[in-house]
Amino acid sequence: MDFEIAGNAALITASSSGLGKASAKALAAEGVNVVINGRDEERLAEAKAEVEAVATGEVVAQAGDLTDPDDIETLVDRTVEEFDGIDHLVTSAGGPPSGSFLDTDDEDWYQAYDLLVMSVVRLARAAEPHLREGEGTIVTITSRSVKEAIENLVLSNSVRMGVIGLEKTLSQEFAPEIRSNAVLPGPHETQRIKDLVNQAVERGDYDSYEEGLADWAGNPLDRIGDPMELGNTVAFLSSPKSGFINGTAIPIDGGATGSNL
Ligand SMILES: NC(=O)c1ccc[n+]([C@@H]2O[C@H](COP(=O)([O-])OP(=O)(O)OC[C@H]3O[C@@H](n4cnc5c(N)ncnc54)[C@H](OP(=O)(O)O)[C@@H]3O)[C@@H](O)[C@H]2O)c1
Repeated sequence: MDFEIAGNAALITASSSGLGKASAKALAAEGVNVVINGRDEERLAEAKAEVEAVATGEVVAQAGDLTDPDDIETLVDRTVEEFDGIDHLVTSAGGPPSGSFLDTDDEDWYQAYDLLVMSVVRLARAAEPHLREGEGTIVTITSRSVKEAIENLVLSNSVRMGVIGLEKTLSQEFAPEIRSNAVLPGPHETQRIKDLVNQAVERGDYDSYEEGLADWAGNPLDRIGDPMELGNTVAFLSSPKSGFINGTAIPIDGGATGSNL
């Protein structure tokens, strides 16, 4: 299916790895000009080469920290400078540390809020005038933890709810020019998941990485997700092929979430 977005411009944050990178690859393969981002310059340069290998448009790398408001302004300005506007904003971010409520102090809560919520607030605010003039989509990558609390992830379970409230509000306030949706990933085999499973092995929850990974899959499809499966959904939600989808939050978790809705 041609998503009819070739030649558009997209800013994808936290895209030097994992789900952000997969989203950048999916959009780039559709001919979208993309700006990718991460803090570590070396990792970003490697990701740029990987995205370029599948791209039919341009790929620009802009380093920056999503907890720094100035870096967010720079990301949006650079996208507009390079591509004369922004049609698609895709927000990802690093994950908050795992831990139980009693392991988590005030500083952890504020850091998670800054990274997960304020980054989307600042990105949406800065990109809004440009999105309004273009094809106008926002896709926010969060977690299935907003549907079903996940053990030992108190920050993800709690703070991400703010992103869903924000996304729903934007779907009302920015419409009809801009559509806003969220995707709620279950486990996909990215660096983040490798780190979390390895931490669980270190805590003694599992004997090996393989045992942990198999346990984390925990869904009716009985496997962990390929990041490109999520990336392709992000490209679909950014395209006119999903033109009547607005204000929704789509689990991409192999059916792991038990709720009926
Ligand atoms: N993978 C999954 O199965 C899964 C499931 C549910 C939810 N999620 C959530 O989805 C998001 C992405 O996860 P992932 O698996 O793609 O993680 P990942 O593979 O570890 O990639 C994280 C990306 O975020 C960047 N990043 C981290 N902190 C940043 C910051 N302050 N400013 C700018 N970039 C930053 C990293 O680059 P630098 O470190 O170089 O900055 C990297 O490019 C996370 O919030 C995660 O919790 C993932």
